[in-house]
Amino acid sequence: SWTMATFRADAIKRIQAQVGRGRVICGLSGGVDSSVAAALIHEAIGEQLTCVLVDHGFMRQGEADEVVAVFRDRFNIHLVHREASDLFLSRLEGVTDPEAKRKIIGATFIDVFEEEARRVGGADFLAQGTLYPDVIESVSFAGGPSVTIKSHHNVGGLPERMNMALVEPLRDLFKDEVRALGRELGLPETMVGRHPFPGPGLAIRIPGQPLTRPLLDLLRKVDAIYLDEIRTAGLYDAIWQAFAVLLPVRTVGVMGDSRSYDYAVALRAVTSTDGMTADYYPFDHAFLSRVANRLINEVKGINRVTYDITSKPPGTIEWE
Ligand code: XMP
Repeated sequence: SWTMATFRADAIKRIQAQVGRGRVICGLSGGVDSSVAAALIHEAIGEQLTCVLVDHGFMRQGEADEVVAVFRDRFNIHLVHREASDLFLSRLEGVTDPEAKRKIIGATFIDVFEEEARRVGGADFLAQGTLYPDVIESVSFAGGPSVTIKSHHNVGGLPERMNMALVEPLRDLFKDEVRALGRELGLPETMVGRHPFPGPGLAIRIPGQPLTRPLLDLLRKVDAIYLDEIRTAGLYDAIWQAFAVLLPVRTVGVMGDSRSYDYAVALRAVTSTDGMTADYYPFDHAFLSRVANRLINEVKGINRVTYDITSKPPGTIEWE
């Protein structure tokens, strides 16, 4: 019978046959997909693999450090960590359109990645943690043409520009299979069980206003508190993905005996099996109140919290 152990052994042989004595470079984001791809490829070809973490400044709190701790310090994988938040923010100055944002982030990612690839002496192959749903995330309307809903910055672009052959060992797998493979490879549970996180990160969770460092820091705090409460309540594994969206609106509130005029956030949590469809998670009201109280008390600049009850379809999981 087909098991993950068999898949692992076969995948390693396929990677070795494809790569030979060549050098492979792999973009690492901290997400499950690229982490599992990197661990698998490292097992197949060891020192021939170099990983690059392009830190665009849109990652979650503490996430870049964790990637370095796991891959460089524990798995002993050659990892370049490039902090590039200034460059990303300067290129995104004044931009609010979702597709424009995605395109700029994708293009900047390619520039930085290419620069780091050159710095380590180049490579023959580019590894990507592309999954089956990434390949087919487009919708056909009855009788009409196929329409792309969002440009995913992890598919396309890079291979053409760098003129490199692709190593995509997860291309036939769904998310739950990738997680099983990650466990099989001995990746830590915190990484393997982690919710999906989009390539453009927090940048696509601040709709309707230009990105700035203070807004990103504010959202990072909100996100960390929300996820902390989800973990404390023992709900993390029951949820596919949970995150906060910083709304482009400030509203009036009352704090103590004074008036406040601060931002509103929307919380989102969904269940799903593959990200293609999703239902909102039915938190109980006590939980939502606890999160709202913590956010308003602990994050300066927030005075209102809402919960998004839209499923996919008609909504998408992310707001942009
Ligand atoms: P949507 O918002 O389209 O998201 O319902 C479906 C899943 O894809 C993730 N997502 C992305 N992942 N690069 C990624 O790697 C992207 O540009 C991107 N955009 C959305 C989203 O978080 C959800 O898990």
